[in-house]
Amino acid sequence: MADSSPIGLFDSGVGGTSIWKEIHELLPHEQTIYLSDSKNAPYGIRPQEEIISLSIKNTEKLLELGCKIIVVACNTATTNAIKILRNSYKVPFIGIEPAIKPAALKSTHKAVGILATRGTLSSELFAKTSELYTKDINVLEVEGKGLVELIENGKKDSPEMTEILTHLLQPMLDAQIDYLVLGCSHYPYLIPQLRKILPKHISIIDSGEAVARQTRAILEKNDLLNMENSIPIPQFYSNKDPKVLSDLIQAEKFAYQVAFLDF
Ligand code: SIN
Repeated sequence: MADSSPIGLFDSGVGGTSIWKEIHELLPHEQTIYLSDSKNAPYGIRPQEEIISLSIKNTEKLLELGCKIIVVACNTATTNAIKILRNSYKVPFIGIEPAIKPAALKSTHKAVGILATRGTLSSELFAKTSELYTKDINVLEVEGKGLVELIENGKKDSPEMTEILTHLLQPMLDAQIDYLVLGCSHYPYLIPQLRKILPKHISIIDSGEAVARQTRAILEKNDLLNMENSIPIPQFYSNKDPKVLSDLIQAEKFAYQVAFLDF
């Protein structure tokens, strides 16, 4: 049974559009609905109970909008809430976790940097994954303090951002990492900035492509792919300032709709 219902995505804010882009590229015939919970960003500094209740609120809204699968396009929400979401709802959930495994396997220096929110770094899921793959690796975990706030305020390319990033990356440079894992869906928007600060031999890894492939695999497995040939217009909703959202995605060459939604 094919299904033309939308794929729902949510994030604490605009950053999960980095995941949305990968999904749209891989699955252009799927309708997508993206919820940016910018009113409550950042999630990374909140206690777990709050992250769980915000994730439930977003899920309920996406289900009300008829979504057939939900992509939790936020590392903090995934690592803190996905287990509860999976146990509470029938639709499949796709999560996003920092790409520790590929970085640890590829690192020749045996030193890997992980930039993520406090909420992700302190989660049980992150601790388990890290323990599993980084036994012989020096892992530099750094909290990306202030980064999400600047991106949410449309300041991803500001001198202030360069200053914070330079400061945050220094311990990783001192430890001679050769892989930097971006453990927050907002951070791929910082890659141009990061590339200016990091030496060329340091690779940057994020989870976007892997999440898109996993979404396709789960849709296939559950017979939920849309078999129609049209390319639907993606719908983006923000509960704060839709302009920040449209400024981020307008560089892309496709039609889309952005609107305010109180959720
Ligand atoms: C945040 O809201 O703090 C960041 C979102 C993420 O972890 O991907």
